Amino acid sequence: MNKATDPFVHSREITEALPGGILLTSAAEGRVNTMTIGWGALGTDWGKPMFLALVRESRFTRELIDKNPEFTINVPYGEFDRKILGFCGSKSGRDVDKIKELGLTLVDSQVISVPGIKELPLTLECRVAARQKQEPALIGEAYRKAFYPEPCDAHIMYFGEIVNAYIIS
Ligand SMILES: Cc1cc2nc3c(=O)[nH]c(=O)nc-3n(C[C@H](O)[C@H](O)[C@H](O)COP(=O)(O)O)c2cc1C
Repeated sequence: MNKATDPFVHSREITEALPGGILLTSAAEGRVNTMTIGWGALGTDWGKPMFLALVRESRFTRELIDKNPEFTINVPYGEFDRKILGFCGSKSGRDVDKIKELGLTLVDSQVISVPGIKELPLTLECRVAARQKQEPALIGEAYRKAFYPEPCDAHIMYFGEIVNAYIIS
């Protein structure tokens, strides 16, 4: 039985975990794929709880979210195997089925069509409310030079309304 929660009660766990990586899972056309993300934000937009994910244009994940605009966020909560984040942050779903390769346990979501991942049990179900490509010309020069060498692989900002949050048990 999953334990329902309020995402903001866990804002500290979520924001502190981000630099080391959390999982963003997407699914479309029979494929489920997960990737490590370290850029993101928990907050409020349009009066709704929102998770903002930044996904580079080149990611396989980007293709899947654009086909099915929903995603789950899974955050470590207790012990977990750190190699999950290394693997999912370095291999592309274009080349390998990361979920199968790592033996990750998919758990059906309650509201959206994309499953969560039991091994990182703090789960946010998100529905994309809006997406926007970062405009390179509007990124501060220091950040552009550091993070966007030419040709620019910009991030797409996905504003995911958090429609459900719980801890998988
Ligand atoms: C700690 C960590 C954080 C990362 N954060 C992001 C991120 O926020 N956005 C992004 O586009 N890629 C990020 N990456 C890189 C992707 O996880 C990586 O390119 C992955 O292979 C993409 O998978 P996909 O092609 O299956 O979507 C991160 C990698 C690591 C190890």
